[in-house]
Amino acid sequence: MTTPARYPLRTRVFHWLTAALVFTTLLVGFAMVNSLGSYAALVGIHMTLGISILVITVARAANRFTHRTPRLPETVGALEHKLVVGSELAMYGLLLLQPVVGWAMESAAGRPVVVFGVLRLPAIAPFDEHIYFFLRQTHSVVAYLLVVAIAAHVSAVLLHTMTLRDRMLSRMTFTSH
Ligand code: HEM
Repeated sequence: MTTPARYPLRTRVFHWLTAALVFTTLLVGFAMVNSLGSYAALVGIHMTLGISILVITVARAANRFTHRTPRLPETVGALEHKLVVGSELAMYGLLLLQPVVGWAMESAAGRPVVVFGVLRLPAIAPFDEHIYFFLRQTHSVVAYLLVVAIAAHVSAVLLHTMTLRDRMLSRMTFTSH
């Protein structure tokens, strides 16, 4: 089996930074709506993480669409190739959508969006209970879609790495081949 091509260092750093931030933001999000205490503290952390994901995803999308991605291993057939590209684009879409929905949802609720405890962002949606209700539902649905997309993404990479032994994971890691 030939050693697969690897993503450039900046892409790998962006990828793992995103993974850590998204995992933490989902965890904090589910924890804060299901816990009786600490809501105010957690929501501040959640908004800061969420807006950071938005900024990083814009940078990642710009990087992705201006550079070619390394060739996939030969174990990936034509149909699976389309699924890989499609699912990656879907994850970019969800990661752009979710923070914007969260930001608009708080705007529609008339609540300020403050990141890093000091930076107050402008409202991006009118103060309206119907808009708030719709966006609040959307924020939950997109959160579950993200969980499903991430689970499928991790499962596919592990399936390739552990059963087909094509070193798929090493395209994104930092250790030597
Ligand atoms: C990728 C980024 C984000 C992810 C993955 C995410 C995920 C989540 C999750 C899983 C929940 C709990 C949903 C539920 O159980 O119904 C939640 C709630 C919430 N999110 Fe986000 N979120 C993100 C970005 C944002 C942003 C940028 C804001 C605001 C600026 C925000 C504001 C909120 C608020 C206020 C709640 C609680 C709503 C309530 O108490 O009713 N989120 N988020």
